[in-house]
Amino acid sequence: RSTPKPSSAASDVYKRQGSVNVDGGAAANGQRWDVALMGATARVGEHAFRAEISACATGGLRRSFHPTDEDCFVCTFPKSGTTWLQMVCLLVVDERLRSKRSIDAVTEAPWLEAAVATGHCTLRELQDGAYPRNPPRPRRVFKTHATVARFPAAAARRPGGAAAPDPGLKVLVCTRNPKDTCVSLYHHARAMPSETHDYHLTSGWNQFLADFLDGNTAEAEAGDWFDWTLRWHEASLKHPENVLLLHYEAMLKDPAAAVRSVADFLLVDVSDADVALIVERSSFKNMKRDHEAQMADYEKKTGSVTRRPGESAHFRRGEAGGWRSAFSESDAAKFDHLYAIKMAGSGLQHDFG
Ligand code: A3P
Repeated sequence: RSTPKPSSAASDVYKRQGSVNVDGGAAANGQRWDVALMGATARVGEHAFRAEISACATGGLRRSFHPTDEDCFVCTFPKSGTTWLQMVCLLVVDERLRSKRSIDAVTEAPWLEAAVATGHCTLRELQDGAYPRNPPRPRRVFKTHATVARFPAAAARRPGGAAAPDPGLKVLVCTRNPKDTCVSLYHHARAMPSETHDYHLTSGWNQFLADFLDGNTAEAEAGDWFDWTLRWHEASLKHPENVLLLHYEAMLKDPAAAVRSVADFLLVDVSDADVALIVERSSFKNMKRDHEAQMADYEKKTGSVTRRPGESAHFRRGEAGGWRSAFSESDAAKFDHLYAIKMAGSGLQHDFG
């Protein structure tokens, strides 16, 4: 068993904090992992932390995590409807959740690399099915933002290798038009409470957009939007039984059809009444209400701050085409030009609202 050698200054900080947990190190500290993640980014910097997620947690997962046929993955470029698809998957796979008063999709379907990197589970607990520590459900649902090449599982369970992955591997990818994704990511970066996000705050929208177009966002593990999206699109064409590609805008237009395709892909029978209930429980309005109540409750109990005051909420607008209020005409023209070049011949087309 080999532990990747920490190379950066960030690793030294993690060692001191006892929070790196690549091959079974520090025990979970009882914090919500997303808040632990914010704490870690505040200590060492967003870029360093995300690089660490890639280098350590992903390395360990890629060497030794063998998800079972009962696991499934929600995989997105950040700000493309991840939480929404997590919620839909959870509601599809676990009937009991459908009548639960309030569902915390972020905790119920954890971000795999972050859970390992922040010490919320060891690889062994993950492998043994002991994480997440909620009542066992028919399928575990995990979130990742990984590229195809960095998918957090051992070789036979990756969709990007030379051989076809095992038939039981199920990855649900949601893609969103990159203009709305970029605007959503900008607001997300502004709202994070870490001082290290000041790069985005001080440089403002113009620099952020330029960085996004250069594939240089703070979300290092997701990389360049165009590459990320094209590779997952190819994987969905090559391995349709393993990779389902959904479009955020199509989910908005027909959420019931999206729920049905998720259920078909995961081989779960759902009735019309189930579909209606899942659509209702995963609606923007309901998810926003529950999430904001959960965050307020959490902040009150722990004294933590999960977002900068005055910045947008995670559930911000939840629509297609909102980019128009952020992009100038020349921004939009530049974006369209690059989109046309990069996506040419792929057969993939996004709906810009
Ligand atoms: P906006 O910032 O444009 O409002 P992620 O979960 O990947 O971080 O994506 C967040 C984006 O998805 C936010 O977009 C959020 O409002 C939107 N979103 C979250 N839940 C949604 C839902 N149930 N329906 C529609 N949009 C949703």
